[in-house]
Amino acid sequence: MDDLAPAFEALGLNAQKAKEAAGNKKIAPVLSGLIAATGQTSFDKSAGLLLYELATEAAKKAVPHSDYVARAVSSGRLASKEQLKAAVDFCRAQDPAADEGAFDAACGVGVTVSDEEVAASVQAVLAGLQDTLLAERYRALGKALGAVKKHPALRWADSGRVKSAFDAQILALLGPKDERDDPAQLKKAAAAAATTTKAPAAQGWVPASLESMLSTGEISRMHKPGENPQIKPELVAEHLEATGGGVITRFPPEPNGYLHIGHAKAINVNFGYAKVHGGVCNLRYDDTNPEGEEQEYVDSILDTVRWLGFEPHQVIYSSDYFQRLYDLAVDLTRRGLAYVCHCTGDEIQQQRGGPERGERFACPHRDRPVAESLAEFQKMKDGKYAEGEATLRMKMDLTDGNPQMWDLVAYRVLFASHHRTGTEWCIYPTYDFTHCLCDSFENITHSLCTREFYQSRQSYYWLCDALEVYKPVQWEYGRLNVTNTVLSKRNLKVLCQKGLVSGQDDPRLYTLPALRRRGVPPQAINAFARELGVTAADSTIEVVRLENHIRDSLNEIAPRIMAALKPIKVVLENLPADHLEEIELLYRPRDEALGKHSVPFTRTLYIDASDFREVASADYYRLAPGKTVGLNGVARPITCTAVRRDAAGAVAELVCRYENEGACAKPSAYIQWVADCPARGSPVRLDEVRIYNPLFKHANPKDKSVVPDGWLSDVDVDSLETVHGAIADVGFWDVIRRHAETDAGKAELAKGSFEAVRVQFMRIGYFTLDKDTVLPLAAALERTRPEAARLVLNRIVTLKEDAKK
Ligand SMILES: *[C@@H]1O[C@H](CO)[C@@H](O)[C@H](O)[C@H]1NC(C)=O
Ligand SMILES: *[C@@H]1O[C@H](CO)[C@@H](O)[C@H](O)[C@H]1NC(C)=O
Repeated sequence: MDDLAPAFEALGLNAQKAKEAAGNKKIAPVLSGLIAATGQTSFDKSAGLLLYELATEAAKKAVPHSDYVARAVSSGRLASKEQLKAAVDFCRAQDPAADEGAFDAACGVGVTVSDEEVAASVQAVLAGLQDTLLAERYRALGKALGAVKKHPALRWADSGRVKSAFDAQILALLGPKDERDDPAQLKKAAAAAATTTKAPAAQGWVPASLESMLSTGEISRMHKPGENPQIKPELVAEHLEATGGGVITRFPPEPNGYLHIGHAKAINVNFGYAKVHGGVCNLRYDDTNPEGEEQEYVDSILDTVRWLGFEPHQVIYSSDYFQRLYDLAVDLTRRGLAYVCHCTGDEIQQQRGGPERGERFACPHRDRPVAESLAEFQKMKDGKYAEGEATLRMKMDLTDGNPQMWDLVAYRVLFASHHRTGTEWCIYPTYDFTHCLCDSFENITHSLCTREFYQSRQSYYWLCDALEVYKPVQWEYGRLNVTNTVLSKRNLKVLCQKGLVSGQDDPRLYTLPALRRRGVPPQAINAFARELGVTAADSTIEVVRLENHIRDSLNEIAPRIMAALKPIKVVLENLPADHLEEIELLYRPRDEALGKHSVPFTRTLYIDASDFREVASADYYRLAPGKTVGLNGVARPITCTAVRRDAAGAVAELVCRYENEGACAKPSAYIQWVADCPARGSPVRLDEVRIYNPLFKHANPKDKSVVPDGWLSDVDVDSLETVHGAIADVGFWDVIRRHAETDAGKAELAKGSFEAVRVQFMRIGYFTLDKDTVLPLAAALERTRPEAARLVLNRIVTLKEDAKK
């Protein structure tokens, strides 16, 4: 029987399976009979597997006219399992040779179903199941796929294409897998739901990591709305009546730069606190400083908040309140609690006292009559004073130990055009005057900010009480900071000006737009920001911890693609020049959910230079002269028989033997490869691959004891490596198209953002397309490559932590 095994392997069965079949007394004679009936000895893989399928069926229960069916398979008339099944049924009822037309009709011979028809039918089925899918998510996947397969219009469609359409539409509907799809988290959520009376529907879905971030420490024991003390008791009742007792928070960035990784914590704390308590969070642009504020930053901030998965209840600007703030400044003055001061900055410094300057003292204007201050403030507003000639100062408490109580400036003269109010105002309120009052106007219940504002808490409360308005609670938490970088706007500007980075979204930086451009998934950033909880202490976290979260997320969502950054040509000498086999590969090993793709296997292919060595060692298992190695997904291994060199003596190509004859030991390693098959668009040329290394050489570039020449001297000018000539397998196009077919993907690609096209190049790292990529949407959808297209990739992160760090 053993001599049948090679013939069975020629069907495309793997060695193990072929041996089993050859040893099976029922199947072996039937299968060899069928092969003989076709008159062929070699088969393309799908036909071979169908013959095997037919043999196993016939071995179970006789199939009349099975030789006829075998020939219909080998000639390509029957091409799918579905068709084969129909053919067997037909033959059990009647003789196919007697009415070939009826046979073809019953088996769908020659029926083609276009991709559009596939997509439309899949969509129709999924639409009917939408409620179930939204409720049960990925747990309902089997059910949904079953229903899709039963759709009559899809009966003869290629099952691979049906599955790709299905996967793409599921992804568009449900998004990538997340905590809701993790059984452990679900159990936890169910247990929590059983013990609380909160109505989960009212607050939307709350990620477990967000709950746990807010479930320990002081932030888990905050006051309930209405419990915070007010200067007048009626303010409590008015507040509760206006808000209905719900939690209201706000995220108040100044629109003068991009958000950075530290803000990811602020966003999670503020939006998260509201979400966990069934409340709402406003996005308020703190735009009281007309210089440096730009629409570009306004747009980028909202975009970034949404990218992290949060939706503001309202988008508001402090400048919306300019008139109201001005009126309250007049009110404060009238109450005798503010005065116009003409001291210079130096004089004010002197008045604040200190070890070198002596006692603190009041300025001569502090006790001027109220009427005079009112008149002077009007003059400030009317543009009668130049910048620096007059300020409105709050009359606080000079005897207090807190510098925030030493008559802070409330208004200053600035002849600057504001990005929203233009030149309507020439006086602008300060942060200290604006922030607490805007919180009050919006009935914020919890004003959560970073610890640098600790001393401001007293002035915040003072001003609300002085004006007898509703007073929110301010609470401070520690900042989040990461090593190996700088985050301040000033430092980022210097890096840009000196040309050390390409802009504030250079993928080596830690602004959120930079991380996004680099390809970092938002869920990794959230996981990182939530991991540490909300404590009072500032924390500087090693950047490798962020990288680990990035790897964890990408491992779940990134399809695996074969690629070579530095390709070496390989010629499989014993294969015919026109050899073409389709090899199916799962996008993620052992995980059907991410789908699969098919790559051509041909005589000429490329491997990555890192998978070849001229001199092998005992612990080296990949390709070397005389060594045998497996090709990922390919049935049989290859052995390197010769190395061809160019004129300069460098390796030009490897001559290898495809071990398709006789017994062959299972190779100890498999390497990736990319076929040279222009007809199938392989390889996909990657015009430029950018490899990012840390921008700074030290964990803390600001530490003078390790970086004596200042942080700029710590920049690694070689931190960006650019690779040209890299290639990937054709699955890369499929991944791009799959993304382009979703609504979100379409919108992103049309805008020229490609960062959600994330892949793993096997054993190399995770990559995405940079925004410098040029690829029209139509080309992405059709998998064509126009002349002008340019694929530029970013390495998001390596597969493993760098041992050097
Ligand atoms: C805030 O509450 C006050 C009453 O305290 C109410 O008049 C006002 O409309 C509320 N503002 C908002 C934005 O809800
Ligand atoms: C962030 O950490 C770095 C050290 O890596 C330090 O130099 C810097 O001052 C910190 N920034 C903030 C805002 O805490």
